[in-house]
Order: sequence, then structure tokens, then C-alpha cells
Amino acid sequence: MTVSHHLPMVTMISAMTNDRTIGATGGGIPWHLPRDAAHFRRYTANKHMLLGRKTFDEMTGWFTSQTPLVLTSQQHYQPQIGAAVHSIESAIEMVATSGGDELVVSGGAQVYAAALPYADRLLLTFVDAAIEGTVFFPDFNAVARWRTVAEEHYPADGENRFAMTFVTLDRVRGPGNA
Ligand SMILES: NC(=O)c1ccc[n+]([C@@H]2O[C@H](COP(=O)([O-])OP(=O)(O)OC[C@H]3O[C@@H](n4cnc5c(N)ncnc54)[C@H](OP(=O)(O)O)[C@@H]3O)[C@@H](O)[C@H]2O)c1
Repeated sequence: MTVSHHLPMVTMISAMTNDRTIGATGGGIPWHLPRDAAHFRRYTANKHMLLGRKTFDEMTGWFTSQTPLVLTSQQHYQPQIGAAVHSIESAIEMVATSGGDELVVSGGAQVYAAALPYADRLLLTFVDAAIEGTVFFPDFNAVARWRTVAEEHYPADGENRFAMTFVTLDRVRGPGNA
């Protein structure tokens, strides 16, 4: 008997500068923005997240209600929380079999690049900072058309040193588009 599941929606969440910088040399995210951190935690609550093994290592102790699926090529890797996966497809399948309706791709650069072909929606925080980046989000406009469905701007304030804009983009499906 074939069991069919509804495929979960694939969203990607990321914070980047206007030139798509998401990380700096030595790892880590090159800004401290409580507003964006709160948005990230709230959006991922009670959901499956897909993380590269390097980003997962940086997030030790961060998870509360989230289930991390850790993408790795290491066959015997066992994360302390969540599960290891070895492909984007198996991550999507794992969410489907557990009855979830969304996979939130949460970086880093390698994972964003590998998952972009599957993404239905992008939740991007554009950070108004000039930073010499070494790690970049893929050029999403080069591979598909996206429609802006929401946009919210916040100026810098006492807690958030840089202005930021939260943008939600949905993939435009149809002739000529992937
Ligand atoms: N600004 C943001 O929103 C944001 C979000 C997340 C991360 N970041 C930053 O991004 C940087 C890390 O990005 P990164 O690209 O270096 O690393 P990454 O994507 O987090 O992790 C890379 C690792 O994932 C595994 N992997 C990647 N593609 C795979 C595939 N197709 N199949 C199997 N395994 C695969 C490999 O693990 P193994 O080596 O175990 O095989 C690889 O070494 C950090 O600076 C982090 O802070 C920024």
C-alpha cells in the first residue's frame, strides 16, 4: 500500500545585508539585533527547521519548541536534539511523515543554496548595515520570480543598532518559472 502525504510547505528564513551577506569570517552572524532574533524564534516555534551541520553547531542550547533536522554528509552523525538528514528530500519527507505542514530552512549558506529550488516562500530580514561578508545567501532573483506579499520597516533604535526590513516573498509559479 502506498501512503500519500501532503507535502509540507518549504520556507526559508534568513537575515542579510542588501548584498546578501549572512555571515562573517570565523562563523557567527555579524550583528546583534534583538528584534530579528525574536522574529526568528517566534516564526520557528513548534516547527521543523532544516540546518546545516555548521550552523547547528553554532546554535547549541538555542532550541525550545523547534525540531532541528541537521543536514550532514556524515553517515553516523547524531545531533543531541532532533535528527540527522542527508538530503533536502529526506528532510521534507520526514516532516510529511510526522504530520508537519512546514519545513523552515534556516541556513547556513550551503543549506540555503541546496534548498532554494524547493522553496515556496522566503522570509528575509534586510539589515541596513555595511559589513564585509564572507558568507552569502544565494542570488534568489536569478533563479525564480518572487512576489512581495508583506514588507515591514523598522528604524534603528536603542536596542537594534541597524534599521531592518522584514520582507515575505512568494515564488511565482507559471510558464517560464521554476
Ligand atoms: N544571517 C543568517 O540568517 C544566518 C542563518 C544561518 C547561518 N548563518 C551563518 O552561516 C554560516 C554557516 O554557513 P555555511 O554555509 O558555512 O555552513 P552550513 O550550511 O551551516 O553547514 C554546512 C554543512 O552542512 C552539511 N551540508 C551542506 N550541504 C549538504 C548536502 N547537500 N548534503 C549533505 N550535507 C550537507 C555539511 O555538513 P558535514 O560537514 O557534517 O557533512 C556541511 O559542512 C555561519 O557564519 C552562520 O552564522 C547566517
